[in-house]
Amino acid sequence: MLLSPVGQSLESLDTPALLLDLDALDHNIALMAERIIHQGGKDWRPHAKAFKSPAIAHLLRQAGAIGVTVAKVSEAEIFAASGIADILIANIVVGPTKTARLAALQHSACVTATVDHPDQLPALAEAARAAGSTIPLLVDLDIGLHRTGVATTEAALALADRIAHTPGLQLAGLMGYEGHALAIPDPETKRSTIQAAIARLAEARAAFECAGLPCPIVSAAGSGSYEVTAGLPAVTELQAGGGIFGCMYYLELCRVTRHKPALFVLVSVISRPAPDRTILDAGRKAFSNHGAEPTIEGHPDCRIRMLSAEHTTIENPRDTEWKIGQKVKLIPGYSDLTFVLHDRVLGHRDGRVETAWPILGRGALQ
Ligand SMILES: Cc1ncc(COP(=O)(O)O)c(C=O)c1O
Repeated sequence: MLLSPVGQSLESLDTPALLLDLDALDHNIALMAERIIHQGGKDWRPHAKAFKSPAIAHLLRQAGAIGVTVAKVSEAEIFAASGIADILIANIVVGPTKTARLAALQHSACVTATVDHPDQLPALAEAARAAGSTIPLLVDLDIGLHRTGVATTEAALALADRIAHTPGLQLAGLMGYEGHALAIPDPETKRSTIQAAIARLAEARAAFECAGLPCPIVSAAGSGSYEVTAGLPAVTELQAGGGIFGCMYYLELCRVTRHKPALFVLVSVISRPAPDRTILDAGRKAFSNHGAEPTIEGHPDCRIRMLSAEHTTIENPRDTEWKIGQKVKLIPGYSDLTFVLHDRVLGHRDGRVETAWPILGRGALQ
């Protein structure tokens, strides 16, 4: 059984534990809200697939977010049940169970999904008819990532026209994800790659308008690109979300500026087999190294030599004074793939746990 850790000092917590530094989180949220909403004049619909926690979604709402983006119908159900009224499933919903759930969900929130092929439409329309609802849809345009998305403006226009003329479906606009640009090291090349990607959305939007088709939403961006995308006129809303955690993926790989590490995994030293080697009580089952190496807070000179399922082997300078049982804080490689390994995240300030938020969407994969 999990006893409530609220009020405990960080030193007294058992490990491994997922920690959220609430001051750093507030700093990162304010930074993103400032760039996206206040400077960029855009709507902010942060992607919630990383944290899957309604409590964090409501913090973002308080900071000005209009709702959340998710990847799965089951995630949308969790956020809708918590009172989030405007949700984008930035994904294609296929299969009778999922389309029925999406159609039913419209009775409790506005839940928009994406499409990139005319064959996806009949099942969505039939589900809407059966549920007595209307499903809002964005046309997904491939703007360079080469994952989902129609390939051309002409195909986007044809699909938009089909949606607009299908009962039960509502054309809500366009979506594209410039995910191929996030890790480009040179800032100028990154900027021009993002601009070129978003120009494809601008072209498609103009084509919709020219054809008399509505396009109120043009949705794009991740945390690794939002600083540029927020300044581009064609976009109406940004999906950047995970950057609020300041994990190594965003700090090192995507080079976001001014974000602070906010997400940590508290771990214990369980062995010092050699002066230059330290073993921690957590490994791949407690944090992710996707995209970037995790680092130990305050110890940039220590390197992960081996990551096992339950252990981390650290190569440290010989004079590192870690004792058996000592706790250290590790900044995960990728926050997104770290949250799903934990039941809850402990928000702390001034060395004490203030909140224990369940990661309700953990396992919400359908
Ligand atoms: C469709 C889509 N939008 C946005 C994002 C960016 O999310 P985040 O800001 O959490 O990195 C992703 C990330 O994979 C994505 O797949």
